[in-house]
Amino acid sequence: MAHIKTGVIGHPISHSKSPLIHNFWIKHHNLDGHYEAIDIPPENLPSALPRLLKDDGYTGFNLTIPHKEIAMDICDEIDPIGQAIGAVNTVHLREDGKIFGTNTDAFGFIYNIKQQFPDYDFTRGPAIVLGAGGAAKAIIHGLLQENVPQIIVLNRTLGKAEALANVDPKVTARPWDDRHDILSNAALVVNTTALGMAGKPPLDLALDKLPTSALVSDIVYAPLMTDLLTHAKARGNDIVTGIGMLLHQARPSFKLWYGAMPAVTQDLEDLVL
Ligand SMILES: NC(=O)c1ccc[n+]([C@@H]2O[C@H](COP(=O)([O-])OP(=O)(O)OC[C@H]3O[C@@H](n4cnc5c(N)ncnc54)[C@H](OP(=O)(O)O)[C@@H]3O)[C@@H](O)[C@H]2O)c1
Repeated sequence: MAHIKTGVIGHPISHSKSPLIHNFWIKHHNLDGHYEAIDIPPENLPSALPRLLKDDGYTGFNLTIPHKEIAMDICDEIDPIGQAIGAVNTVHLREDGKIFGTNTDAFGFIYNIKQQFPDYDFTRGPAIVLGAGGAAKAIIHGLLQENVPQIIVLNRTLGKAEALANVDPKVTARPWDDRHDILSNAALVVNTTALGMAGKPPLDLALDKLPTSALVSDIVYAPLMTDLLTHAKARGNDIVTGIGMLLHQARPSFKLWYGAMPAVTQDLEDLVL
């Protein structure tokens, strides 16, 4: 088999952990290939992405900020997941010469929980989603696929939460100030905002009303143990850190390009953190 070239395109991109993840799996599976980070400004993506795939011999790419929406117009075909989320984070040059796009963020969020808590029942009760950006959109799609009975989205900019609520009657939007009181019958709480991330303000969330049976997830992974997770763990809630979503979202991309479904292992997590 020929050397398989892949990578991640973003702007900026030097911070990306994706090369570490995919090159770890290439080595682990004894494959002939490599994965690199490429910085391309958004105005150049429509010409650069087809050229890299069709002329420069790349098999596929991950796309990250600010390219996930722009790339939709460059793909010849987008699967129903990418269409539902309205963004693609993975492209693949198929044998027929067409550029195929999909989104693996929902998979990453859901399979991280499934690996860490195999008995967690998504149908058990309401999910509270804090934030209404790109990550929230993918996570809500994943939660709906898992038949979560009710999803409540709270966001500083209420209009963005309302836009997400329009996708399905099970999703409702609430003002950001309601976030403390809304926790009383939550089965799952997910922070998808940038709050709590190193260099950003803390997430101000009182957990007093949250049942201790609720699962608490933070998709911020720098730091790994955010204040939200530290407080939730101290009061007895199960917690899910953000690094697993990053690692699991990479799995379907790797499978698409290299043919093998890779595993998320402690070795990989230690390498990436
Ligand atoms: N673990 C993973 O694999 C993974 C994957 C994707 C993203 N992430 C992380 O998730 C976070 C969000 O990513 P994204 O792509 O969804 O970003 P995004 O589209 O820019 O959305 C950012 C969200 O954070 C909210 N926010 C930002 N500053 C705030 C503040 N001061 N007060 C209240 N809300 C605030 C925004 O509210 P407004 O709408 O009101 O601005 C919005 O809901 C980032 O920290 C990112 O690193 C992790």
